[in-house]
Amino acid sequence: MPSIAEQRREQLGGAASVLVRQRRDHPQLGRVLERLAATEGGAQDAVLNRIARLVFPHAFAEEAVLWPAVRKRLPDGEALTVRIEQEHQEVNELWAALERTAHDDPRRRSLLDRLVRVLQEDVRDEEVVLLPRLQAVLDAAALRRLGVAWELVRRTAPTRPHPVVARRPPGNALAALPLTVLDRTRDHLDGWGRGEGRVAGPSRAASRALGSVAGRIEQLPPLRRGETASTRSGRTEAEGGS
Ligand SMILES: [Fe+2]
Ligand SMILES: [Fe+2]
Repeated sequence: MPSIAEQRREQLGGAASVLVRQRRDHPQLGRVLERLAATEGGAQDAVLNRIARLVFPHAFAEEAVLWPAVRKRLPDGEALTVRIEQEHQEVNELWAALERTAHDDPRRRSLLDRLVRVLQEDVRDEEVVLLPRLQAVLDAAALRRLGVAWELVRRTAPTRPHPVVARRPPGNALAALPLTVLDRTRDHLDGWGRGEGRVAGPSRAASRALGSVAGRIEQLPPLRRGETASTRSGRTEAEGGS
C-alpha cells in the first residue's frame, strides 16, 4: 500500500474514514511547525499553544482508539505501535522540559529542534508505515467506524502534555475524564490570563493551581497502568514528573 498522503480520498474509505481524518490533521501540523522556527518569546508561546491543541488530543485519541485496533488486527501490531507510542512519549517529555526552560535559556533551541523532528517522524511513520498496514486489513466501513470513534475521543481528549500517565488502556482511559476537564478549564483560564483586565492575574493563578492538581492526579498508580516498559526513556521519572 502506498503512503496515505498519496492516495485519493475514495481509496482511503471516504470523508469519514480514519485515514482521511488523519491526513487532514497532519499537514495542518506541518504548517504550524514551520512557523515555530521563525518565532521568539510571546509569539513562540502562541505557536506552541496552537501545536499543543492540535497534537495532544490527536495523539491521545490514537492511543485510546487506533493503536488497540492495530494490535488486534496485525500480527506485528505490538512492535508497530510501541514505536509510535515511544514517539508520543518523547513529545510529552520534551514539552514538559520546555515548560521548565526559560526563553533565554540556550538549551531551549535544541529542545524545540528535537520536538519538531520527532513530530515529523511520527507523522511519517503513521502515513507511510502504520496506517497503510491498517488499511490493508480493514474494509471501508470499518475505516469509517474507526474514524468516527477516533474523532469523538479527539474532541473530548486532554489538550496538554501528560508524560506520566500510561500511553495505553486502561491507564489512559481512566486519565481521560479528569485530565480533559482540568486541561480544557486551564485553556479558558489562560485565555483570560493573557488579557489586561482585572481577571487576568487571578486567572493565571487559578490555572497554575489546576496544573498542580493535574500533576498529582497523573501520579495515581491506576493511571500509569497498561503500557510496556520500553515506552518511556526514563527522563520523566528522573526529572520528577511534569
Ligand atoms: Fe496521527
Ligand atoms: Fe501520532
